[in-house]
Amino acid sequence: MTAAARLAPIGAKVSDSRQSHNPFDRPEQGPRGHLPVLAGELVDLIGPQLGETVIDCTFGAGGHARLVAERIGAEGTLIAIDRDPVAQAHFQAFETEAACRTRFVAAEFSQALKYLQNEGIRASALYMDLGMSSLQVDAAERGFSYSHDAPLDMRMDPRQELTAEVIVNTWSEQQLAQMLRELGEERYAGGISRQIVARRPLTSTSDLVEAIKAGMPAAARFGSGHPARRSFQALRIAVNGELEAVDAALPIAWDSLEIGGRMAVISFHSLEDRRIKRFFNDLATGCTCPPELPVCVCGHEPEAEVLTRRPISAGEEEVGMNPRARSARLRGALKLREANENPAGEVR
Ligand SMILES: C[S@@+](CC[C@H](N)C(=O)[O-])C[C@H]1O[C@@H](n2cnc3c(N)ncnc32)[C@H](O)[C@@H]1O
Repeated sequence: MTAAARLAPIGAKVSDSRQSHNPFDRPEQGPRGHLPVLAGELVDLIGPQLGETVIDCTFGAGGHARLVAERIGAEGTLIAIDRDPVAQAHFQAFETEAACRTRFVAAEFSQALKYLQNEGIRASALYMDLGMSSLQVDAAERGFSYSHDAPLDMRMDPRQELTAEVIVNTWSEQQLAQMLRELGEERYAGGISRQIVARRPLTSTSDLVEAIKAGMPAAARFGSGHPARRSFQALRIAVNGELEAVDAALPIAWDSLEIGGRMAVISFHSLEDRRIKRFFNDLATGCTCPPELPVCVCGHEPEAEVLTRRPISAGEEEVGMNPRARSARLRGALKLREANENPAGEVR
């Protein structure tokens, strides 16, 4: 039996127990039909148990948190983190009816985890559902969407100084092209960045969409998907320092788990997924001696068991209901021991 199967209560699935007075149609469904991605799969993977402490690093509209709260029950504690004040407002609605004890930390997740660690908090399970929430995309005025005319903002945390407007109007053409290529895998990064620089100052998402369209060949504008999709993704990742945030948070998150704790991450593009995969695989690596040595001299033992040999992705039914789920990849790992302990439990 795999560790995932051991951890997941048999037949554990999304429950549907709330009454019609609930503002949400389904308990995992947030405001205005927000659907958490891979919700049943994530809960099965981390297998929350009654009375446990679980950290949700990306609360959003609380879709995953609702399911976890039901599993950990009145004696359990769910600690929610998010850097977006709108998520905090949703948390306030969530906590009034949550099935468990709750707490919210309004901060970037690596800082919040550090803060919780300094308080001595250890979690039985922890998860991240990366990227932006539908609440953010749907709030047209925040500038995340290429479908609405809005100021060039894209900040998850409005207290932050860097906005999309600052980037498009101050970065050099080379910096813009590199960002579009690396974070958006945009083929026409060179042409688009040239148009952005030529059209400065850009003040709205419509200005940016026009520059993007002008920077690509006519045929590419009518290909699959919106022509601005990749550039908007790249800009959002850059504005919010999303890759740096993940790199900083993963080791702190892992340290925050008790032995036997489970960690899961849902990512939405290959740059994130690659980081998660490498992080878990490194922790699961045992002996690091050169292969030519006949016996192990390093004594290194794995700290983790990877619970997902391959990433879990959404089925056709979920993608049909929620197209955003198409690119989601879920990975998880089980903590076997602390980093500074040898297998006998002695601290090195
Ligand atoms: C995909 S949504 C989470 C949705 C949530 N799981 C649900 O079911 O409603 C991601 C959330 O994480 C937050 N977020 C992303 N990166 C973050 C970071 N580095 N620190 C704190 N919050 C972050 C965003 O503000 C957003 O609300």
